[in-house]
Amino acid sequence: MSDLVQLTKQNDIAVITINNPPVNALSPGVPEGISEALDQIEKDDAVKAAVLIGGGRTFVAGADIKEFGKMTAGKKRGAGLLPLLLKIEDSTKPIIVAIHGTAFGCGLELAMAGHYRVALASAQVGQPEVKLGIIPGAAGTQRLPRLAGVAKAVEMCTTGNPVKAEEALKFGIIDKIIDGDLLTGVVAFAREVAGKVAPKTRERNGKLGNTAENAAVFAGARENAATKQRGLRAPLAAIDAIEAATTMPFAEGCQLEQKLFIECLFSDQSKSLIHVFFSEREVSNIPDVPKDTPLIPIKSAAVIGAGTMGGGIAMVLANAGIPVLLKEADQAALDRGLATIQSNYANSVKRGRFTAQVAEERLKLIKPTLTYEGFANVDLVIEAAFEGMALKKEIFKDLDRVCKPTAILASNTSTLSIDEIASATKRAESVIGMHFFSPANVMRLLEIVRGKATSKEVIATFMALSKTLGKVGVLVGNCRGFVGNRMFGPYRREAQFLVEEGAGIAAVDKALTDFGMAMGPLATGDLAGLDVGWRIRKEYRHLEKPGIRQPFAEDKLCELGRYGQKSGAGWYKYDASRRAAPDPAVDQLIRDWVAEAGIPQRQISAEEIADRCLYALVNEGARILEEGYALRASDIDIIYINGYGFPSYRGGPMWYADTVGLKQVYERVMEFQRQHGEIWEPAPLLKRLAEQGRTFADVGKEEGAAA
Ligand code: NAI
Repeated sequence: MSDLVQLTKQNDIAVITINNPPVNALSPGVPEGISEALDQIEKDDAVKAAVLIGGGRTFVAGADIKEFGKMTAGKKRGAGLLPLLLKIEDSTKPIIVAIHGTAFGCGLELAMAGHYRVALASAQVGQPEVKLGIIPGAAGTQRLPRLAGVAKAVEMCTTGNPVKAEEALKFGIIDKIIDGDLLTGVVAFAREVAGKVAPKTRERNGKLGNTAENAAVFAGARENAATKQRGLRAPLAAIDAIEAATTMPFAEGCQLEQKLFIECLFSDQSKSLIHVFFSEREVSNIPDVPKDTPLIPIKSAAVIGAGTMGGGIAMVLANAGIPVLLKEADQAALDRGLATIQSNYANSVKRGRFTAQVAEERLKLIKPTLTYEGFANVDLVIEAAFEGMALKKEIFKDLDRVCKPTAILASNTSTLSIDEIASATKRAESVIGMHFFSPANVMRLLEIVRGKATSKEVIATFMALSKTLGKVGVLVGNCRGFVGNRMFGPYRREAQFLVEEGAGIAAVDKALTDFGMAMGPLATGDLAGLDVGWRIRKEYRHLEKPGIRQPFAEDKLCELGRYGQKSGAGWYKYDASRRAAPDPAVDQLIRDWVAEAGIPQRQISAEEIADRCLYALVNEGARILEEGYALRASDIDIIYINGYGFPSYRGGPMWYADTVGLKQVYERVMEFQRQHGEIWEPAPLLKRLAEQGRTFADVGKEEGAAA
């Protein structure tokens, strides 16, 4: 038998143990080992029942995701697990599956082929495949509804969310929760059921419901998927497969599941989601910062400024159990900031995210102050005062004086140079950018901005800290706008140009939401506040090259006090609950302005709108990559998916460009250059890769410069 599976006996009970650390993935050798063990058990008259259990810290936690890649690359195709699962189910002796840790994906599919399932109270089960753009491929969609009922199976397979043991028991996915030692408990359970007729899951049709009930469940689920998982194919495929369980015999249901599974697996959506899965792990890999770089312990922190960002950042720290001093310039601002924090926590309690007691404990960790008292003891300070170099330098000078020498000083600036801020201190090696996204307590992205002098220890500490804070930290270089906002500039510039050329406000946003963006670029501007960009543009106007076309409609809207949602009107108008509606007054204004400016108006297709906005994003991303401000194309993808609502099923902007083909992207950029001039000059990297027939993903592997 393979080393990965062991067969032992406890008198009349056989014990099959899977030992494939770290997570007992069903990689090659494991299914074969289980199959051989079943053969021996079948032959051994002394054995009355068998237990299937995982060695180490978990049962089978899921498939080896790299195997999916091999399947789509054509290197590996086989019958899959289905024959083994039938063999388990057809065993003449009861097979009891014992679950600890997690039984996810094919782990749960394996468990469901057993005749009974028991679990520790701490165990979890689930079918998370949808998160990778696929569906269960080993009869999960056929067996789960037979155990848990149709509605629960639909919920689990479409959301991919795990289910705790207690809930799994309630829904019949498991038969018993074991207190104490799992093996002892399951062997005792096995003795109870030994010799009795063992139920085969595939023959248990009692929970498959009736046509009328099921029709309502499936219709509701399809509607839900269409809104909450807009554009995703896998949730709909999962629903189709579960529906088949209710209308077809088991074997035919399995065949349909296989067909849908293969369709999903070979889809661009799945390849993109798998790319995102690996890219999110890759971000913490920084070539010149080794994994064993010593970390600086962060046990306490301080935040400067209790405005929009500072308040959210203080909550993020408190949520992670880190006590935080929150300093403001005056009492009124401090009171306002605290009131917002309190109301945010109260809302979370109301929505059932955590209890009032938890909220109170977190709130207690935030200590408001107007002075630097206590700053000498903190390990980290995050500055989130107004955006202005002079003010930031003054604050950093103070911090350098009052904080202990080992304290890290971070700025949440969104545009200013970290190196210049650091120059106000005598510890540039301990200064770093920590660019949160608004609202800081909700958005997962954190751009960690490396200054010229930032030490490796500080970088390593921040990469680890971002995980502690529940964020995805991506290391970026110190350029204007860093990675995310620098790319967002050209993207939003094109959206405005398109409106000025006659595309229509709603049509521009719709082309991008149809592509899969969470919001259109103009609606996003309204949400963030049009005045933010307006102020920045005014400040940097002197840097603009004369003779280069600039969008103007947004600045004119600001001059009219139309700042977006906060002022009730921007590109759209907003009601009291901030619901957007088209505003004919803006359409008229724009018609007047463009007539005055002499900009010819024309019909513009959704395809052109999407290409112009997205390729502007990609072209700037290519420059950033070449200049070394991002380590890898996939880091840019992670930034856009987690901070800018880019659809994860398209893998991020750089991956998307790779899937379109860089030659085609390059040619389109050239076409835009011919039409619109030098702002569309192709990035040298894009040109080179297109000519060489290569991809951005290749660059990440070979030439990635340090940020
Ligand atoms: P805000 O105006 O809401 O808050 C700034 C707060 O800092 C104010 O409450 C002000 O009283 C306080 N403050 C000013 N000087 C201070 C001092 N010397 N000591 C203590 N407190 C002081 O601004 P917001 O939006 O929170 O921005 C803060 C920083 O975060 C800026 O650098 C901004 O560029 C950056 N940022 C903003 C984002 C956003 O979406 N609002 C996103 C990411 C970064």
